[in-house]
Amino acid sequence: MIITNKRLLTIAQYISQNKKNQNIDVIDIGSDHAFLSIQLINQNIANYVLNVEIATEPMENGISNIKQYCTNPSLIDNVIYGSEKFYQLINRDFDTVTISGLGGNKIAELVVNYVQLFKKNKHNFNQFIVCMNNKVFYFRKYLFDNLPELKIKEETIIEENGYFYEILILSKENGIGANNELTQYFGPINLKKRTNLFYKMHNNRKQYIESHSLDQFNQKLKKELKLLYEVIK
Ligand SMILES: C[S@@+](CC[C@H](N)C(=O)[O-])C[C@H]1O[C@@H](n2cnc3c(N)ncnc32)[C@H](O)[C@@H]1O
Repeated sequence: MIITNKRLLTIAQYISQNKKNQNIDVIDIGSDHAFLSIQLINQNIANYVLNVEIATEPMENGISNIKQYCTNPSLIDNVIYGSEKFYQLINRDFDTVTISGLGGNKIAELVVNYVQLFKKNKHNFNQFIVCMNNKVFYFRKYLFDNLPELKIKEETIIEENGYFYEILILSKENGIGANNELTQYFGPINLKKRTNLFYKMHNNRKQYIESHSLDQFNQKLKKELKLLYEVIK
């Protein structure tokens, strides 16, 4: 099976680039169709993936895809969050934790919960790679307020099917804390890189807000427009 999903391919590429050693283990939270785990095993990027799901239907769909498309299904485990098997399999070191395809508020909550779980079990991780559908501003602020030891090591923006997505790598070892509104909104690394896609994404947002009467909007959107005017001329 050839995976064409740009978000998942970019995440797989980041895992491959940041490998600290040859044998890396990954947890994919909200694995659904299991495409990321299949890519990681088929391309020899990871040597083990633990897929975590909250619902049985997507997990069974994932298991069926793994049986059909994975070159070595024995290298992937599938568990339901909170089950006995979940607590057994999570009780070890992992290189990377991935979470994608959920909202920024949910991903923020999950990152904090999983870091606490690692701490409680006295186990280690190298990095989190997250890609949220929305509320990246909220995510960066929540992370800085609740887990300042986890810094933003890399950020990238991708465009797929007319939507923009931000992918963030979080690390304890190096990176930047988003400690103010500007870096929380735009991303500390994005602000340094200022790619064409960065301007395209924020220009779209600026034009969207400008095309409506500000009277219709709440203070939150007025504040957002003020931030956009500071950076996107
Ligand atoms: C939209 S899918 C994203 C699938 C894939 N990660 C991607 O990016 O294409 C979100 C999945 O996350 C699962 N999910 C939601 N909350 C979760 C949680 N707390 N733990 C594990 N899985 C969760 C949902 O059941 C759903 O299958």
